[in-house]
Amino acid sequence: MQRDSGKWYPISGLRLLSSDSLGVRSFSIFVDTGEEKIIIDPGLDIAPLRFDLPPHPREIERFYELKSRIIQYLEMADVVIISHFHHDHFSKEFVPMYMGKRLIMKDPQRNINFMQKKRAREITDVIKDYKIADGREFRLKGAGVKFSRPLPHGTTPAVVLSTFIETNRFKLLHTSDISGPVEEEALGFILETKPDILILDGPALYINKKHRDTFLKNMDIIFEKLPDVKLVIDHHTTRDPGWRNDLEYISENTITFAGYNGLEDQPLEGMRKILWESC
Ligand SMILES: [Fe+2]
Repeated sequence: MQRDSGKWYPISGLRLLSSDSLGVRSFSIFVDTGEEKIIIDPGLDIAPLRFDLPPHPREIERFYELKSRIIQYLEMADVVIISHFHHDHFSKEFVPMYMGKRLIMKDPQRNINFMQKKRAREITDVIKDYKIADGREFRLKGAGVKFSRPLPHGTTPAVVLSTFIETNRFKLLHTSDISGPVEEEALGFILETKPDILILDGPALYINKKHRDTFLKNMDIIFEKLPDVKLVIDHHTTRDPGWRNDLEYISENTITFAGYNGLEDQPLEGMRKILWESC
């Protein structure tokens, strides 16, 4: 399908803060509605081992750069949204910074596995005042926000929430970790909300290529139903430096967080072997 791949970014009021194409495990964005500032998933993580190698100094340096960036935007935010309780989506040490802000997050008690329930307490032990997001809609200043019901985190037993934000400038969907879409329910939420900017994590093809065909089939459906959608892919898919070869057609129709920020992709975790060999 031929699509207009003209440059449409950056968009006023939307910052793509931190992600795998920028060099860490993360998927954090910032939306300024004009009246209120929202941060989604202010967290970042670094794989202790990949290819049996520890993080390269360049990864550690980038981690601290992006950590500072997230802190800067978290300080400005009025509303904090947490899609699920994995540490690349919320950093424990940032939790005290939620105080005085509105916290809207995945239900920490229901539709949640043991490990995420345990990690959620790192938030609920500190912040007692929060709203449960699962399947709900909220009216913020300058934006409507709608959350999906809990969606599968690929094939792991975790669940996540996708977040749809509508301002007077754009309709944006941050899928969080749906590892696709490869599941009908995740695809359904995208088609139901009809975003004009779709921020998608994509499948983790570096672990398993079995979801590739389902993902491509579902992307065809998205492009057919939402022909003008602006696509951003990052996080699981871009963790693999070879992802553009696996998803050539999709690659031509999307940008990454790095691209949105005017930078080349730097999937440092996937480059770890090369980085250590060049030392
Ligand atoms: Fe994640």
